[in-house]
Amino acid sequence: MFEILSKEMLTPIICRMKVSAPRLAAAAQPGQFLIVRADEKGERIPLTISDFDRKEGTVTIVTQKIGASTADIIAYEPGECFADVVGPLGLASEFVEMPADKLAQQRYILIAGGLGTAPVYPQAKWLKEHGVPVDVIIGAKTKDLLIYTDEMREVCDNLFICTDDGSEGFKGMGTNMLEHVVEEGHKYTQAVIIGPMIMMKFTTLTCKKLGIPAIVSLNTLMVDGTGMCGACRVSVGGKTRFACVEGPEFDGYEVDFDQAMRRQGQYKAEEIAANENHVCKIGRGK
Ligand SMILES: Cc1cc2nc3c(=O)[nH]c(=O)nc-3n(C[C@H](O)[C@H](O)[C@H](O)COP(=O)(O)OP(=O)(O)OC[C@H]3O[C@@H](n4cnc5c(N)ncnc54)[C@H](O)[C@@H]3O)c2cc1C
Ligand code: FES
Repeated sequence: MFEILSKEMLTPIICRMKVSAPRLAAAAQPGQFLIVRADEKGERIPLTISDFDRKEGTVTIVTQKIGASTADIIAYEPGECFADVVGPLGLASEFVEMPADKLAQQRYILIAGGLGTAPVYPQAKWLKEHGVPVDVIIGAKTKDLLIYTDEMREVCDNLFICTDDGSEGFKGMGTNMLEHVVEEGHKYTQAVIIGPMIMMKFTTLTCKKLGIPAIVSLNTLMVDGTGMCGACRVSVGGKTRFACVEGPEFDGYEVDFDQAMRRQGQYKAEEIAANENHVCKIGRGK
């Protein structure tokens, strides 16, 4: 039984839940995700493992209400159970398997856009625990949409916050913040970028300009999450790759973002219809 042990709204539409899943917690690594079905007829929804506690046997997920199924997920309350939670899925972040001598030479900059802050957190935490220098940029449209700022400060060397409207931190986007930080003299061997596809595309271009290798985490459409259906296929370096089993992290320089964005929007009409006709399956709200 995948019981929800705690629930907290981080913004009016972003919810953090701690879920009991001992076997999943025992195997989870940064960069991996899970698939939740809220009830037996529920859609399979991929969500990043935002934290895990092996001793407690829990995983933390952060869900943004965007359509019908994410609305169902965040309607659940502590004490209730999801029908199933499958994972960990996908490959762990590259640094998890990196030889110690190579890891010791790294200096990471993790760049998070909006909800992407939640998946960046376990990566910063892992790097900090392993003594690897790590700075983090969190970007959001406005101050009210910033999440995980206190938690992130605990697990990185320098936290840089930027908002599009300047309501908190640097005024500008993550790309501007990155250029500013590098101009100030910070040096990085590797960037990891997580956020909306368009943000990852342009931040990768900025990294390229600055000569920083960039890894991105692709939130493609997914169905089975096991490499069988092909829903998550993306073009990386001219080759078709399945994000669910060969990713979700890829070399950003090699990703065909324009194709990935076209594929991500291909069921827009169906999603809008599902959202308009949506009645919350457990009877609370829309
Ligand atoms: C590896 C991975 C990790 C993710 N991590 C998180 C996370 O930690 N927190 C979070 O809130 N969201 C995360 N997402 C996105 C999340 O899965 C979608 O927001 C969710 O599936 C939307 O479902 P919906 O019915 O609420 O919305 P819909 O109205 O059905 O869709 C809204 C948009 O969500 C995307 N989407 C829809 N169905 C899927 C699907 N089956 N798989 C992937 N994307 C879909 C599409 O871009 C679509 O346009 C992740 C996606 C992937 C692939
Ligand atoms: S989600 Fe089906 S192959 Fe990746």
